[in-house]
Amino acid sequence: MELLTTSIVCLLSCCTILAVIINFKALLSFFFFLFFFFFSSPRGSNNRRLPLPPGSLGWPYIGETFQLYSQDPNVFFDSKQKSYGSIFKTHILGCPCVMISSSESVEFVLATRADLFKPTFPASKERILGKHNFFFHRGDYHLKLRNLVRRAFMPESIRNMVRQIESIALGCLASMEGRPVVNAFQEMKTYAFNVVMLAIFGKEDEETQYWEDLKRCYHVLEEGYNSMPFDIPGTLFHRSMRARRELGLILSKIISTRRIKNNNGSSSSNSRSNDLLRSFMDDREGLSDEQIADNVIGIIFAARDTTASVLTWSLKFLCENPSALSAVTEEQEAIKRGKEGKIGEVEGGLSWADTRRMPVTLRVFHETLRLASILSFTFREAVQDVECQGYLIPKGWKVLPLFRNIHHNPDNFPEPHKFDASRFEVAPKPNTFLPFGSGVHSCLGNELARLEILVLLHHITTKYKWSRVGSERGIQYGPFALPMNGLPIRLSSVLSPISHATVPE
Ligand code: HEM
Repeated sequence: MELLTTSIVCLLSCCTILAVIINFKALLSFFFFLFFFFFSSPRGSNNRRLPLPPGSLGWPYIGETFQLYSQDPNVFFDSKQKSYGSIFKTHILGCPCVMISSSESVEFVLATRADLFKPTFPASKERILGKHNFFFHRGDYHLKLRNLVRRAFMPESIRNMVRQIESIALGCLASMEGRPVVNAFQEMKTYAFNVVMLAIFGKEDEETQYWEDLKRCYHVLEEGYNSMPFDIPGTLFHRSMRARRELGLILSKIISTRRIKNNNGSSSSNSRSNDLLRSFMDDREGLSDEQIADNVIGIIFAARDTTASVLTWSLKFLCENPSALSAVTEEQEAIKRGKEGKIGEVEGGLSWADTRRMPVTLRVFHETLRLASILSFTFREAVQDVECQGYLIPKGWKVLPLFRNIHHNPDNFPEPHKFDASRFEVAPKPNTFLPFGSGVHSCLGNELARLEILVLLHHITTKYKWSRVGSERGIQYGPFALPMNGLPIRLSSVLSPISHATVPE
């Protein structure tokens, strides 16, 4: 045990020094995220009839951890794929794992034989987000919650949110306008947070008073999300756990306020009849307040940084690709012009139908999802020995479907590193475009994400210009891929004389 502790401390120190040397702070937090993920893993298998996938398990215990963390993780995945092909084994942070990058195998793991694999998260993440979160589960509980969430986020349920999302987008853009520099990612996080609040709670007047408190606590919670999970006073993790408890208390206040109103039969005229909280609170579902609170926090977690990262990337790509920007602007201007003077139309107000008629902008959205691949991989764990592509994946091994490698494979997408939205004029080959995953755990918020991104792009392209501030390039991971420093930009009204070019800080 002592030896194990020493090697852990050694491993941590070496990686920390390495990260400092290469000045890759974000990589370090990514490292801690994975470190605790892997340490919570079971290991071992007896079935050895089939060969293990090619690849190297590296040094005893340490495996190939240094090779992975001394560079951008995607470079590691790419070079391994070049050497060994679309399935290979490795050993990271004390855990054997198999990485897969053929669309057939990814479909096998995530969809067709999803029963052979389970989602796997570090125990510390489960503590922070709450053990009742349905995406940690399999079976009936997962299915029941998944159906409730699906119902709240399907097109029929979110189509009446367009105007409210629009007003959040306009408020967000107005708050960015004219400032010398804004961190695009931070602003997009606020936008995505407010939209998901709306989707979860509707716009019950009595409840919006709690949004700021929820935001404040959630902010503290996320600060500790990638930290060392030592629950001792003074640590980020401890603060995070305290914020988690506070979030639980605020959510139970909201739930009881809602219960009282339901019992009185009074609901505000702003309320959405099918918001997520209402589905969770349906008596027939029999969910406890704790289960509801955990799943509300889980949805915020799944919805906010993902959408905000994609929006940030789309602003970057549009800024760097003037022809794509003018094509999107032209499409959005045409929609705007088409509404002028129409009877029954609120001036400037988008309708659900408008958001379904934006093919050019939608292609930019898809190309952004592909090129940025903000979730470059996901995790599963084999629940029994599994045969995959003629190889053995032993029970207890981690399996990492590499979405980004599929999206950046030239056989699937020629010139994969080039931003070219026109490639989506033709539908991608089956199972080669998986920004929202696949199978039983695939994303339930894709329609909402699409809607909020299209609405924001409509208003930013028709009313504003933006330009990058500074010349810093590169990617950071937090853990989603993000333009370096969250993309500092300057935003101004189209009426003012700033160009789309990069401006120095
Ligand atoms: C562009 C933004 C988004 C991207 C790229 C994205 C991507 C993904 C991916 C790849 C998965 C599958 C993970 C896996 O298989 O392990 C996933 C799952 C999920 N996403 Fe999203 N997501 C986005 C936005 C959202 C939003 C806005 C919501 C909620 C409103 C949401 C809710 C969820 C949930 C609940 C799951 C887990 C489903 C389950 O385990 O059954 N996502 N997302």
